[in-house]
Amino acid sequence: MTIGIMTAMPEEAHLLAHELKRETERVHGGRTYYTGELAGHRIVLVFSRMGKVAAAATAQHLIDSHKVRSIIFTGVAGALRPDLRIGDIVVADRLWQHDMDASPLYPLLEIPLLHVSSFAAQSGIRDRLKACAEQFLRDGFEAEVGASASADLGIRDPRVIIGDIASGDRFIASHADRESVRSRVPSAACVEMEGGAVAQVCYENNIPLGVVRVISDGAGDGAHVDFGTFVRDAASRYGLGIMKRFLEREVSDKSAR
Ligand code: ADE
Repeated sequence: MTIGIMTAMPEEAHLLAHELKRETERVHGGRTYYTGELAGHRIVLVFSRMGKVAAAATAQHLIDSHKVRSIIFTGVAGALRPDLRIGDIVVADRLWQHDMDASPLYPLLEIPLLHVSSFAAQSGIRDRLKACAEQFLRDGFEAEVGASASADLGIRDPRVIIGDIASGDRFIASHADRESVRSRVPSAACVEMEGGAVAQVCYENNIPLGVVRVISDGAGDGAHVDFGTFVRDAASRYGLGIMKRFLEREVSDKSAR
């Protein structure tokens, strides 16, 4: 069973790409899809580029041409909940598109003709991602992210929560924009630019989805600075640390069945 692993940016994918025992490399629509084995699992890895259209097109291609049976999106996000700090991990429960507004034809946030305003991550994947992210923080974080990188980034006692995610085609980097997203999607813990679009594609194709995001910034003034540093120094280490454990657990659970 092939799993599609998506990130938005090459920096978020590069350690996963490095660990992958590569078999094929196929280019489609300007994106490179790397197929191979990681932690005993067959996967297709791709970075979609940022934004909802790029992510949706990539997810649909993973489903149609690579026949993936599930998709996991891993990357960074800006915090919306005030108790979240840089380095904390959010595993998606429901995914929303905070910029969907076809009113007055449809209620604000409702996806036209689908009669829904949010999409659920698959609960089994969600719970497994949470367990693996916790395991990573417990026994891998210090070695795999490193004390000096985490001190430089101001990461202290990171934790994992399950929460809603708001996606939209806007990098949120001001107090006013952050509050506007919070008022539209009050349940959202964090904001990013792809998850809600991939969730729609997975919903329409009946493909199970999981999304795991590390908080890179506070989605307020200066978010772009924190974002840039985090993406450069830590995003890929979190991504590999969590995904490796997730895939290993998939293999050991399957052999125990
Ligand atoms: N991804 C990471 N940080 C973000 C932010 N502040 N806004 C949108 N997407 C993000």
